[in-house]
Amino acid sequence: MANVNKFKKIIAGTALVAGLGISSGQALAADALCQIEGDRVDMKTWVGMKIYDRAFGRGCGTCHDVSPNPNLLEVVKKLSQDEFGNVLKNGKNAMPKAIDAILAVGPAKKAGYGEAEAIEAVYNYLKCRADGTIPATKLKKMK
Ligand code: HEC
Repeated sequence: MANVNKFKKIIAGTALVAGLGISSGQALAADALCQIEGDRVDMKTWVGMKIYDRAFGRGCGTCHDVSPNPNLLEVVKKLSQDEFGNVLKNGKNAMPKAIDAILAVGPAKKAGYGEAEAIEAVYNYLKCRADGTIPATKLKKMK
């Protein structure tokens, strides 16, 4: 009898671990910076891409895809999100203050993003580009 109980406990324990395994897996997926399925990305990543493409009318790449200006895919590897955000809010030498231009981008406005969310959206987008999670191509938003 004692043995049977022990066995039941082991089974219950295994089920618990398996259950935790699944839920922590889901939490990980939800925590991932960017989600991509085919050519569609989650809303925040999509807004980040639109900010990158459209801020100041022609996007950040107008300046940043041209050397010797800093390549933003490299910049996000060394700057924290806070440091990145501070440059957008305050400008830096030839880098114009960008936060107003960013908040004026249609999809950011439509999503109701404030400064923090908009900064996070473009920072995460660049992080995911830099680590290869998402490609440089035009992406649509998930339905
Ligand atoms: C008019 C050209 C121009 C535009 C448009 C522009 N940048 Fe910049 N940016 C620069 C230049 C030049 C620098 C380098 C400033 C320095 O370090 O002296 C820079 C620096 C930065 C830095 C700091 C890099 C570092 O290593 O400290 C960040 C972050 C940045 N830009 C983000 C952006 C984002 C995001 C956008 C689009 C919303 C954008 N920039 C649009 C010209 C531009």
